[in-house]
Amino acid sequence: MTETTRGNWTSNAGFVLAATGSAIGLGNLWKFPFITWENNGGAFVLVYLICIAAVGLPIMMAELLIGRRSQKSAVGALKEAAGPLWGIVGGWGVIAAFILLSYYTVIAGWSLYYFAKTVGWSIGGLPGGTSMGDVFNAQSGNPGLQLALSLGFSIGTIAVVYFGVQRGIERIARIFLPILFGILVLMLFSALGMSGSGEALTFIFRPNFGALEPKSILEALGHSFFTLSLGMGAMITYGSYIARNQSVVKASGMIVLLDTLIALVATVIMFSVIFSVAGMADEVGGSTVGMLFISLPQLFFSEVPFGSLLGPLFYVLVALAALTSTMSLLEVVTSYMIDERGLGRHKATFISGGAIFVFTIFAALSFTDTPFLSTLNIFGEGKDGWFSTADHFVSNWMLPTGGLFITLAAGWFMTRKATESELVDGTQPGWFRYGAWRVFIRFVAPAAVLAIIIAVILGRDFS
Ligand code: TRP
Repeated sequence: MTETTRGNWTSNAGFVLAATGSAIGLGNLWKFPFITWENNGGAFVLVYLICIAAVGLPIMMAELLIGRRSQKSAVGALKEAAGPLWGIVGGWGVIAAFILLSYYTVIAGWSLYYFAKTVGWSIGGLPGGTSMGDVFNAQSGNPGLQLALSLGFSIGTIAVVYFGVQRGIERIARIFLPILFGILVLMLFSALGMSGSGEALTFIFRPNFGALEPKSILEALGHSFFTLSLGMGAMITYGSYIARNQSVVKASGMIVLLDTLIALVATVIMFSVIFSVAGMADEVGGSTVGMLFISLPQLFFSEVPFGSLLGPLFYVLVALAALTSTMSLLEVVTSYMIDERGLGRHKATFISGGAIFVFTIFAALSFTDTPFLSTLNIFGEGKDGWFSTADHFVSNWMLPTGGLFITLAAGWFMTRKATESELVDGTQPGWFRYGAWRVFIRFVAPAAVLAIIIAVILGRDFS
């Protein structure tokens, strides 16, 4: 039976944790806070939440059902679901996973550095006059260090995927996700007690539509794909390991809810610090990309009770959150090599991981003074360097276009009977209405994605 040779999840909880682990990652802890900052909070957050509910959730269900139905990875699954030409959409996703993983690993590597650094500070104390901005720039600008960190992280990712779905991916997710939740709750309480928490909540939750630009809407949409690991076949791949008796609907609701909650919690924590510590807002303004690595260390060493213990622990958890995402990204490429190119898992893992690392080198050097890699600029203001260019292209263009085609596949090219039999099976929860899903996947989601893409292309601001 294909299920045993390809592997599948041992239980529903194992699958939900693995998929939630894929969704929760640097997108929640690192990226969402800084783009919320750049896009002036409130209104951006609201648009983001709308995108999650109206576009993200229906597509999550679509991807998982396509995977579960075919028990194949992205390319094969889309071919089987909607027709041979749809393999191209799967291939587009595999390429997106390839590029995304190549630069994601760089930020993941930073968490390793900050783990070591915070351990050092916990033992030796924070050296006087240390500016967290300077610490950050010194590490991100050091080429040898950047290469070493990202190589280390790549090896970790390869090691997990090497062991396959149950013994690698599911096991890691089961152990680390609960720990991550616990730590975040702890940190949320200490952040809410800080003087800046009121200002932070206002910034995040009070919409000011005057501050919203069209490109912010694209960014919100792009990020809703990014944070849920959608638009590139990752959830199709994870869905392909679901057993027939596991509910796609319940799982989707859970994954989307947890992911959104964690993103908001992380943002509240971070902004509470930024607004509490004098001068921090200015320091962050210059380097929003480094927010997670500039404002939080400050919190640990000056504000949080037991911060010198929580600090290092937190960066371990950032690393783990990143790992549960990088392993899912590598799995997209690896399972493609296994299913479509006939390679064994071990060989497929090494070849994919190795090829991706070549591009990681470019991304790792983007923050150092390397000609071209640090100066390349296609998307305009604030998007300098290979890293930002790749991120902008994947998140804001590849994922929404991939997602658009997935909605078309599920809504228009699969029969009603096919999708209904996957979603409605007596295990779906009370809030689920098949007819509503169908309206969203056929009309609402594709129209929203298309409208935003067109608006941005027509707008004079092409960034
Ligand atoms: N969702 C991940 C995060 O928020 C990033 C991501 C996007 C991803 N697409 C993915 C992870 C596909 C795994 C697979 O950090």
